[in-house]
Parts: sequence; structure tokens; C-alpha cells
Amino acid sequence: MTDETVLAERRGPVSLLTLNRPEKLNAMSLEMKEALIRALRTADADPAVRAIVLTGAGDKSFVAGADIAEFSGRTGIDQWRMYERGTLYDAVERLETPAIAMINGYCFGGGLELAMACDIRIASERAVLGQTEINIGIIPGGGASQRLPRLVGLGKALQLTLTGERIDAREAHRIGLVDEVVPHGALRDRSMEVADRIASRSALAVRLAKAAVRASVRLPLDQGIRYEQALFSLVMTSADKEEGVRAFLEKRDPAWKDR
Ligand code: COA
Repeated sequence: MTDETVLAERRGPVSLLTLNRPEKLNAMSLEMKEALIRALRTADADPAVRAIVLTGAGDKSFVAGADIAEFSGRTGIDQWRMYERGTLYDAVERLETPAIAMINGYCFGGGLELAMACDIRIASERAVLGQTEINIGIIPGGGASQRLPRLVGLGKALQLTLTGERIDAREAHRIGLVDEVVPHGALRDRSMEVADRIASRSALAVRLAKAAVRASVRLPLDQGIRYEQALFSLVMTSADKEEGVRAFLEKRDPAWKDR
């Protein structure tokens, strides 16, 4: 497509977005981050897109972090202004459309933060992951201090963040940092299979389910359950609930209306 730092491809109901800077292991420049935000918003606004898959170009790397070269010379005020404009990571988390990180290799620093902002992480068995900012004298700035402990627990999050160590895909899976590990050659097919399965469900129900589950990390239990009850009551008014129930009783596939 048009924006060469981010390639956007439609595969049926799935938008496949590829960060495209393989010679720098897809390290994310500011320009790339902005292009990715634009591509994500375009996909999210398109009702025909029912799932988004994010990956890195080439065979080696998902995203080897933010572009370290851009850190030199950046002031604290510059950084703060960038945050004021909103971050890529928040843009990913705010998507209504489910987003899958297809982790095809190196996944460090901001790359891991990007993957953690997605809803589901599927990794190649060749992937190597790390919250590596400490190795260059900084700390995570794309949400890892908050999202990493929610995925792997406080102790592991501190260990990874304070040591900057790299872990392989199996260990990442063991600690809950990735949801599935697959042979390298099967990564694309498996990621698309998961995306297609989500895409085959009622888009309305998928969005409400995502909103309810995501609320669990920011709301106290009683409020979270109340929120679920509100969304459940809402979905009970939908055409897709009538269709899904009728299709089950008539032993046929449902034809979703997404409303
Ligand atoms: N920012 C900017 N450039 C990066 C980068 C990053 N985060 N990660 C890799 N690159 C560049 C390298 O500088 C190199 O560029 P060059 O060919 O112009 O010299 C190119 O990508 C290839 O990287 P290289 O280090 O030669 O590959 P490798 O296979 O030997 O090592 C890594 C790969 C990922 C282990 C190594 O590049 C690395 O540690 N990168 C930094 C990862 C990181 O800590 N990211 C978080 C930072 S906050």
C-alpha cells in the first residue's frame, strides 16, 4: 500500500499490518509509529475489518524496540509533548477491533510493549523477548511497567525489567507473556487462523467481550462485574443474540448482522 514503513494488506476480514524496516530489525522510528497509528485507525474504522494482525517484516525480527538513534538529543520536554499527543501503545489498546501480535523474531523494549498492548500474542519458537531498556540506561516508557506485571506477575516483571535479560519463546509462554508458541513456518497460518476464527463471530459480541475482559485490569471486581452485566444486558437486545440462539436451536450456522 502507500505508506512504506507500514504495509497494510487485507486478507478477507483480517487486516495484516507489517512494520517494514527489516534492515534495522523493524526498530520503530517516530515516523513509523505515526504511520502505524494511522493504519490502525483506518483498519478499526472499516466495518469489513474484523481482526487485525501486527507483525514485523523479514524473517528475524518483530520489532527490536524503539529507534534508539532517535533518543540521543531528545529532551524531557520533547518526550512529554510526545506523550501529550498520545502514544501508539494506547492507540492499540483502545482499538475496538481485536489485535493479534504475530511475533516472528526479536521482540525487545518498545516491541514488547507493542505486543503487550495487543489482545493476543502468538510467537514463533524462534522469537526472543526482553524488556531491555535498562541495558541502555533508561526505563520502559511505552507502558511495560504497568502491562508486564499484569501479564506475568510482579516478581517476573521486576526481574525482566531490572535485568534486561532476554528470554526465548518457550519461557515467555511459560510465564504467560505470550499465549501460544508455534513452529516458525506455521506462525503466519496459525495467526491468521486465530484471526479468522474471531472474524467469523458476531463483530458486536466480539467487541463487547473484548471491552468487558479489558475492563478487568482497570476496575475493582464489583465494578467490573457490574460493567459485564451492563454489556451482557446490551448484547441481549441485539439481532445477533436472536440469530445465534435461533441458529443453535435450528442446528445451522448463524448469519451475523453485527448489530
Ligand atoms: N534502534 C535502532 N537501531 C537498531 C535497533 C534499535 N532498537 N535494534 C537494531 N538496530 C539496528 C542496528 O543498529 C543495526 O543497524 P546497522 O546495520 O546500521 O548497524 C541493525 O539494526 C541490525 O542490528 P544488529 O545489532 O547488527 O543485529 P544483531 O542480530 O547482531 O542483534 C539485536 C540484534 C536485536 C540483539 C540488537 O540489535 C539489539 O540489541 N538491539 C537493541 C534492542 C533493544 O534493546 N531495544 C530496546 C531499546 S529501548
